[in-house]
Amino acid sequence: MSPLFSLFILLIITGATAQIRPGYYSGTCPKAESIVQDVMKAALIREPRSLASVMRLQFHDCFVNGCDASLLLDDTPTMLGEKLALANINSLRSYEVIDEAKEALEKVCPGVVSCADIIIMASRDAVALTGGPCWEVKLGRLDSLTASQEASDNIMPSPRSNATFLIDLFAKFNLSVKDLVALSGSHSIGKARCFSIMFRLYNQSGSGRPDPAIEPKFRQKLDKICPLDVDQNVTGDLDATPVEFDNQYFKDLVARRGFLNSDQTLFTFPETRGFVKQFNIDEGEFFKAFVDGMIKMGDLKVDQPGEVRKNCRVVNSRSSNFPNEF
Ligand code: HEM
Ligand SMILES: *[C@@H]1O[C@H](CO)[C@@H](O)[C@H](O)[C@H]1NC(C)=O
Ligand SMILES: *[C@@H]1O[C@H](CO)[C@@H](O)[C@H](O)[C@H]1NC(C)=O
Ligand SMILES: *[C@@H]1O[C@H](CO)[C@@H](O)[C@H](O)[C@H]1NC(C)=O
Ligand SMILES: *[C@@H]1O[C@H](CO)[C@@H](O)[C@H](O)[C@H]1NC(C)=O
Repeated sequence: MSPLFSLFILLIITGATAQIRPGYYSGTCPKAESIVQDVMKAALIREPRSLASVMRLQFHDCFVNGCDASLLLDDTPTMLGEKLALANINSLRSYEVIDEAKEALEKVCPGVVSCADIIIMASRDAVALTGGPCWEVKLGRLDSLTASQEASDNIMPSPRSNATFLIDLFAKFNLSVKDLVALSGSHSIGKARCFSIMFRLYNQSGSGRPDPAIEPKFRQKLDKICPLDVDQNVTGDLDATPVEFDNQYFKDLVARRGFLNSDQTLFTFPETRGFVKQFNIDEGEFFKAFVDGMIKMGDLKVDQPGEVRKNCRVVNSRSSNFPNEF
């Protein structure tokens, strides 16, 4: 191994373990945060739902091997990535908004801002631009060199999940019961497919019956959106105000008008009900807990080598990094 190559390895490893912090790009790309915000503003005008879709990327990225943009890698002949994982296929969307931010950043400060950080900035902006709280983000993450469909399949929760399962899952990431309930409040914006609730409407837990936790008038409404023979890609709103980030989601849960089983179970189960009731009457408390949860989720990392990708969908070509080594 050449000394130069060893130094390179040392640098990327050091980079991966470095602390993320606010203002990380203030010297190298001072406009980074405003460039991302401009792209998100344009996305809001073009398609309001895309802000929800982008915000969801933070959850699906950070839970699988840390916040490293592994989620954004396209499959290659030798790597099955995360895009086609169970929770993501035909479901995650608006990757092109991240691409647009990356292209804008590469024009101004090429090779500086990671795709992992773009997801974090864009998610913050999605919440703020739809009426939710704003917060300072820590930056300085690196992009992964690989991705794992299997890891995503093993980790990402199903819409059938109940509250105890979700409490245990979030605990594995050091996220509290309060974090779980607050972060589920992300479903204050966006939509979900009939595919995600068919079992709930027609065969909850294999009973051949609907979930008894659904308020009857709301169930009639859901049955109309998602009849038995529906194209299961048809979507319904996750709460009654799907383009406004507010505490309506919790009001809906208390009224037993939650869309997903994983949503409604937060009110049904006593372990989480207290927080649902609290956020339902106190939007400020929800916003505060949501911000805490997003920051904790953004801190998730796994110490693996990384890089700043030029294109969020592919790793930088090895030949350009290591002219003689591979
Ligand atoms: C607590 C466990 C969670 C479960 C089981 C869950 C599950 C789901 C499901 C099934 C959908 C709809 C997918 C589809 O039908 O195509 C969805 C949508 C969404 N999720 Fe979650 N989710 C959870 C937590 C989170 C978290 C922590 C966030 C972000 C902080 C998030 C953000 C979103 C958003 C914004 C949408 C709407 C996306 C769009 O309109 O494109 N979710 N979630
Ligand atoms: C919650 O879900 C888990 C995993 O699917 C299941 O084992 C458990 O019995 C469920 N708990 C309740 C109380 O329904
Ligand atoms: C959770 O916290 C413990 C103790 O601080 C730490 O060892 C562990 O790595 C953390 N887990 C995650 C997924 O961050
Ligand atoms: C409901 O689910 C159970 C268990 O998964 C299955 O055996 C049964 O055939 C399903 N019923 C219908 C009507 O789909
Ligand atoms: C949704 O649409 C995709 C792409 O057109 C298709 O492959 C998939 O089978 C559809 N999913 C369902 C549940 O109908």
